[in-house]
Amino acid sequence: MQDLKNIFEEAAKKDERENSHKVFARIRYALEKGEIRTAQNANGKWVVNTWIKEAILWGFRMGALSEIPGKSWNYFDKDTIPVQDINLDKGVRLVPGGSSIRSGCYVAKGTVVMPPSYINIGAYVDEGCMIDSHALVGSCAQVGKNVHLSAASQIGGVLEPVGALPVIIEDNVFIGGNCGIYEGTIIKRNAVIGTGVILNAATPVFDNTTGEFIKKMDESPLTIPENAVVIAGSRPITSGHGKEKGIHVYCPVIIKYRDDKTGKSITLEDTLR
Ligand SMILES: CC(C)(COP(=O)(O)OP(=O)(O)OC[C@H]1O[C@@H](n2cnc3c(N)ncnc32)[C@H](O)[C@@H]1OP(=O)(O)O)[C@@H](O)C(=O)NCCC(=O)NCCS
Repeated sequence: MQDLKNIFEEAAKKDERENSHKVFARIRYALEKGEIRTAQNANGKWVVNTWIKEAILWGFRMGALSEIPGKSWNYFDKDTIPVQDINLDKGVRLVPGGSSIRSGCYVAKGTVVMPPSYINIGAYVDEGCMIDSHALVGSCAQVGKNVHLSAASQIGGVLEPVGALPVIIEDNVFIGGNCGIYEGTIIKRNAVIGTGVILNAATPVFDNTTGEFIKKMDESPLTIPENAVVIAGSRPITSGHGKEKGIHVYCPVIIKYRDDKTGKSITLEDTLR
């Protein structure tokens, strides 16, 4: 990794078009192979590889707008469920579109990507994940093993500033439908994020088991603890006109820590694989 970092720094300094493109292609390839990552866990602490994010931005800057010829994809699915034979007579408008795994991101073996989904540059998706329809894995997001990203859940991208930690979803996390996890939030192992929970850097999360709020601090991002079960809730406004009028604001709640019941609630797709 150090070698590639030096090669990148040298190429960025010289800024010669042909060489820069070659070096960027190497970096992209190393990202796709999972050899380098935009962030990684070092002894329990997530750290950003700033130079890789810089390199990705460099790649965007040096890229010229060009025509990308249509490419026909191959798909892989159970042979018992072939592509349905639909023709014009059926009178259905089937609008083109689908999923995209952008170059420069890593998707490991055994992961299922349902259409339409988008996995952006710099993202890392480990083994055995389910990326369900309408899900987004934003740029540089790090997704661990056996994560379930339910339909319409959005994992935000954090490309800039280069020093900012991307969103991290650790192993065996379940993200329910329509969730949004943004701005460098960390979801620790085995946590369960219930349907419709939205988390960003400014969201206080109430832990109903301790009575404390979990918040982002100066140097530590909003971090949902291991095994936490988070559901959407609300809290009353405690000042201003909202207080007089009994207005509530959105407040995710850790309702409990994962138990057998939770395991049963989130067992979904084994038979679909
Ligand atoms: C979080 C979740 C997994 C439930 O976990 P669980 O361990 O089975 O939770 P329980 O049923 O034991 O509920 C614990 C408490 O939280 C409440 N609760 C659970 N989920 C809730 C939710 N989403 N919203 C509001 N309250 C909820 C229960 O009513 C219960 O309250 P009580 O103790 O006052 O009765 C479930 O709510 C959820 O969000 N599932 C994801 C569904 C989804 O998006 N699937 C996508 C693919 S279809």
